[in-house]
Amino acid sequence: MTSNIVNIDLSALRRNFRKIKSRIGFSARILCVVKSDAYGHGMLPVARELEAMGTDCFGIFEVEEGRTLRDGGVRTPLLVLKGIDADEIAAVTEYDLIPAVFDIDIARLLSDHALKQGKCVPVHVKVDTGMGRLGVQWQEARSFIKGLVHLRGVQVTGIFSHLSVADEVGHSFTDVQIERFQDCVAMAHDLGIRDPVTHIANSGAISNQKGAEGGLVRPGIMLYGSSPSAACPGCDGLSPVMSFVSRVIQVKTVPAGTPISYGRRYVTKAQRIIATICAGYGDGYSRLLSNKGTVLIRGRRAPVVGTVCMNLTMVDVTGIEGVSAGDEVVILGGQKRDRITAEEIAQQIGTISYEVYCAIGKSNRRCYLDGLS
Ligand SMILES: Cc1ncc(COP(=O)(O)O)c(C=O)c1O
Repeated sequence: MTSNIVNIDLSALRRNFRKIKSRIGFSARILCVVKSDAYGHGMLPVARELEAMGTDCFGIFEVEEGRTLRDGGVRTPLLVLKGIDADEIAAVTEYDLIPAVFDIDIARLLSDHALKQGKCVPVHVKVDTGMGRLGVQWQEARSFIKGLVHLRGVQVTGIFSHLSVADEVGHSFTDVQIERFQDCVAMAHDLGIRDPVTHIANSGAISNQKGAEGGLVRPGIMLYGSSPSAACPGCDGLSPVMSFVSRVIQVKTVPAGTPISYGRRYVTKAQRIIATICAGYGDGYSRLLSNKGTVLIRGRRAPVVGTVCMNLTMVDVTGIEGVSAGDEVVILGGQKRDRITAEEIAQQIGTISYEVYCAIGKSNRRCYLDGLS
């Protein structure tokens, strides 16, 4: 059996949820984003925990995730952020999903299907206010919503948009997007859509206290204990939920001039003690960490030396007393008084914590601590 384990601390998840609640005000509602297997943390156990905490809705990417959550007993409303294709329409009514809509042809097909079943499906209109990604362009929102209100098998119960620079404090484009969004909401009201739930705030916006006026916010990364960027003061005090632990499998003392790993990209300058650990890029530890990363062994930092392999990585433990095969290696998370964060790893390889969590989470066996599941 592999010696690698990703630990998911569900009590940390609960603390982060409470922290978001206290930040937005306890009357505001939360849509927890659990797409991509809850950013690598495991969608079903995370959703069960957050459902028990009283989340108002979940954001999933696609219909298939909705099926998994419903089959797993999750009853909370599910918003399908990607929207739906024609061949996913039946699943919307079967699994009681709320699709994002931005395509009138799909909305028509969905309405016809719902009417045949004697139903009216709730939908949230996705407006692109400047993200340049999914959604009906904000300039075309009026005609789109006009078309929707004639469809008897769908009911617009929500309108939402996504911010592109909310993690940058004081960026004026966030205000531009929020203003465009508010115009669309007012327009929808004029077209007879009364009291839709409106939401635009992701973690960056929650942290910088922007765009939560609609009364529903859509955090993802904050739930998992990270800040969307270094410039988010409101993310202080979050608790990382994921940690990644491996083991030392061999320790050896090598003389000066010894090349380490593929490509001979590290050659010892003096006698060193090298530990080989049982994790590599196949386990979500990026090859870009070659000669860059650090891990924790016996509470001390050991630098990665040489190229990270698929399942093995070498670290220099010369200064750390007594390292031996079987020792615990913390790749992500805390050991004794030190901690390696996803942000630190992300910064070393030019990415964001989101990608670090997804890569490590999906590649390893997960163990859930202190939770319902
Ligand atoms: C539409 C939408 N809303 C909310 C989120 C959550 O964003 P964050 O994790 O930055 O809070 C995402 C994540 O990508 C998203 O795609």
